[in-house]
Amino acid sequence: MNSNSDAAPLLQGWPYPTLFAHRGGGKLAPENTLAAMKCGYAHGYGAVEFDVKLSADNIAILLHDDTVDRTTDGEGLATQFSVAELEKLDAGAWHGAAYEGERIPRFSAVAKYLHGLGLMANVEIKPSPGREAETGKLVAELCQELWRDRLVKPLITSFSVDALRAARRVSPQALLAPMGLLVDIPDESQLDLLQSLECVSLHCHHAKLTAEHVRFFHHHGFHVLTYTVNEVDQLAALLAIGVDGIFTDNLEVMAKRFAAQLHDSGRDMQDEQVLDIDWLGVPPPMP
Ligand code: G3P
Ligand code: MG
Repeated sequence: MNSNSDAAPLLQGWPYPTLFAHRGGGKLAPENTLAAMKCGYAHGYGAVEFDVKLSADNIAILLHDDTVDRTTDGEGLATQFSVAELEKLDAGAWHGAAYEGERIPRFSAVAKYLHGLGLMANVEIKPSPGREAETGKLVAELCQELWRDRLVKPLITSFSVDALRAARRVSPQALLAPMGLLVDIPDESQLDLLQSLECVSLHCHHAKLTAEHVRFFHHHGFHVLTYTVNEVDQLAALLAIGVDGIFTDNLEVMAKRFAAQLHDSGRDMQDEQVLDIDWLGVPPPMP
């Protein structure tokens, strides 16, 4: 968390810890599955990041790529599968035999699972090409509904400006979950876009991020988060320049080395775990 004495109002009330488990379980579990979320939790993380897009029949599901090829036993564009077809695919075996039978989860199921584990979320809207606005709208509506009774809302992000614009139209900043803009290379020219989208954060690749960028965006009231940091020295250097959030695939090493950053939001708002035993009684496999 930055310590600018003249920090703008948006920097207040940030509820998230510094470290986020990327795609739920980093490289230790099949990405964007319930098993991945459980893996992030089991390694001590307080927050997870994951990617959401729509099935052909407009159900929000977790998947990173445009196609199902890399992370399931199926082939083809995700946007051409109904949710029932997506749910038949094996989304775990590609990662290892221990995860055989793991499924592509619905966003609604993941939200419930995270509530049960007491995990915070960064919901990345990852639209299939051509579906940016409808995905942004639906995911924002679902975030409102699924986190309605939770104090800590998910942080909604996207590389797609059209998706973020549609999400913003769902509700004004005060009512919707906070939003962040994803970019590759940070640049001061992105300030206008951050302001017009009423974002609270800029998320960029770590390679080109400098202390000057962090100071600039902090000065203008925006948090700065960076992905995907898997080397200890790099992560330490990014903390030293004051970044507010870091996404990592290297769950085990980073949790040990940076244990203080797993739950360091210092917030006074804390959701209770739902402890839905029926739901949690059938945990996905652990390695
Ligand atoms: O949000 C950080 C990171 O997830 C963005 O890149 O491609 O891993 O979704 P990607
Ligand atoms: Mg992502």
